[in-house]
Amino acid sequence: MPAKNIDELIALCKRRGFIFQSSEIYGGTQGLYDYGPLGVELKNNIKNSWWKSIVYERDDVEGLDASILTKPVVLKHSGHEETFTDPLIDCKKCNGRWRADHLESSSCSLTKKSVVDCNKKDLTDARPFNLMFKTNMGPIDDGSSFAYLRPETAQQIFTNFKNVVDSTSRMVPFGIAQMGKAFRNEITLKSFIFRVREFEQMELEYFVKPGEDEKSHKDWVETRLEWWTEQGVSKDSLELYDVPSDELAHYSKATVDIMYKFPHGLEELEGIANRTDFDLGSHSKDQDQLKLTAKVAENKNSNSKLALQDEGNKWFVPFVIEPSAGVDRAFLAILNESYFVEDIDGKERVVLKLKPHLSPIKAAVIPLKKNDKNLVTMAKNIKNTLQKLGMGRVLLENSGNIGKNYRRHDEVGTPICITVDFESLENETITVRDRDSMEQKRMSVDEVVNYFKETF
Ligand code: GAP
Repeated sequence: MPAKNIDELIALCKRRGFIFQSSEIYGGTQGLYDYGPLGVELKNNIKNSWWKSIVYERDDVEGLDASILTKPVVLKHSGHEETFTDPLIDCKKCNGRWRADHLESSSCSLTKKSVVDCNKKDLTDARPFNLMFKTNMGPIDDGSSFAYLRPETAQQIFTNFKNVVDSTSRMVPFGIAQMGKAFRNEITLKSFIFRVREFEQMELEYFVKPGEDEKSHKDWVETRLEWWTEQGVSKDSLELYDVPSDELAHYSKATVDIMYKFPHGLEELEGIANRTDFDLGSHSKDQDQLKLTAKVAENKNSNSKLALQDEGNKWFVPFVIEPSAGVDRAFLAILNESYFVEDIDGKERVVLKLKPHLSPIKAAVIPLKKNDKNLVTMAKNIKNTLQKLGMGRVLLENSGNIGKNYRRHDEVGTPICITVDFESLENETITVRDRDSMEQKRMSVDEVVNYFKETF
């Protein structure tokens, strides 16, 4: 599958209401995007598909929805305060700031050239820049009552480990899944929604006995690859990348990245890490060991023992395998994979061949003649019947121009269009048009209900 031009995707997103730049009427905000009427549907469908495969279709995973604001002690023990940094370089001449490892793809605002082509003596040495956003919490702003916006959804899964085990009586192997917002003050933004400052993650922390981690890691790589193909991402667009030891995150013993051929190049879509017992271990350490400052100690350390007892009543700290996917990157990859421009009798047809379960609109019901009372009433009834099946959004299109409606719904990936015409009023049959083949079939209203159930 050849990568598409990112500008075409951005234009489609804006034109059809998938994604807008945040605060656009005020000039936009870099690194922030808003999902519009169709974007929110596609995004929710991606998340629901993930939740269904990770939580509902398995017997060994519980869900969680924890707070975004996170007290500093959590992110101290997780290692984020110290190590969640990128190398930052300043230019003394233009005051620009860049990631040291992204200089080639960054351009100087004065010379408009790549930063590597600027005069090296103007650049400072690289220094660590922490990516976490801080915010004040509570009415007193004395610098000590702050919280972080979580940089990953994972940490509150670890801090809730004991709560989930106590309330569900789970024993390894089992997992805790969470989806939601994460925030990173990225130095270099990239390629539309690929690298942004506010994004969503779908993360599973899967706990296993030490020694069973490597097999579980392998199994999860396979399971996750299969999920991506079920979302319409072709195997040819995906590659696995064994992260070398000098690139591993501070918590990881081994990480396999699922890479996707984005329009701008091959990049990480999802990371699957073997986090060992690092996180449960660090959140279990006692106060003395952690040498907390007096101020943090007042807030109390997390001193619950995040461990389990085996069959012989011996305590052990579970190892954890973490498949961690970005929702926004999933959105971009799925959009890219499904976007086709076809030549139909010399006319261009843009079509999103989304898997039906991901389509923002499941069906459009179109009366042949705008505002014809009988046609519109019948179309409305069909719309309501299909809507009540609970498969997703069904739309009534009362603009009268069938051809234009077909094109519009091709562009936003609606799998079927249903046309109600004058024959429909006589014999209760309607025309069903398939998005991908453009074939039209005449069927009864009852048949369409079954067809709809089968498609979704
Ligand atoms: N808990 C592990 C973790 O957060 P990560 O590789 O830093 O690992 C996981 O992030 C996934 O989150 C990435 O594979 C990517 O899909 C997504 N992601 C990370 N940073 C992002 C950003 N700035 N913008 C959009 N998505 C991002």
